[in-house]
Amino acid sequence: MCRSDLKLELLIGRDEIGRRVKELAEEISRDYESPLMLGILNGAFIFMADLVREMKIPVEIEFVRVKSYRGVNTTGKVEILMDVSDVKDKDVLIVEDIVDTGITMNFLVKRVMKRGASSVKVCTLLDKPSRRIVDVIPDYVGFTIPDYFVVGYGLDYNGMYRELPEIYRICD
Ligand code: IMP
Repeated sequence: MCRSDLKLELLIGRDEIGRRVKELAEEISRDYESPLMLGILNGAFIFMADLVREMKIPVEIEFVRVKSYRGVNTTGKVEILMDVSDVKDKDVLIVEDIVDTGITMNFLVKRVMKRGASSVKVCTLLDKPSRRIVDVIPDYVGFTIPDYFVVGYGLDYNGMYRELPEIYRICD
């Protein structure tokens, strides 16, 4: 697929994403009684919406909005645009689109713990462990991928491609 001069190659199709999201929801539903699912905007909005609809237990939903990435280079700095709400004494499951360097997730896990959550776990649709700078091991992972820059299913490149229902890698 070619969109605005960039070549996109299909990496994970719709059906495969759907099946994996369902499996993750079943696993999480077995592990929790009633978690607070904390989605990270903007990237996780589609994953979060699909994941919660497959959950077999009651859940609470909250969002946090952070900015930590520009283009293909990480800034290493996390900016909070919409902060964590009341998580005190809750079992919080942070829902993320992708864990890359781990800087964002490390920052958020600490922040949620500091606000008095009973427990914090991480669910990410995609994991790029080869790029890790900070030691973060997500508890639930949809797909582990190589060091590709990916878009679609909520993930963007300079604010574009979030609407694509599949996940594509940007080719050089
Ligand atoms: P980290 O702090 O480096 O782990 O970066 C996490 C954030 O970077 C994610 O929430 C994404 O918004 C963004 N990001 C990292 N890799 C990609 C990618 O391949 N495509 C799109 N966004 C990415």
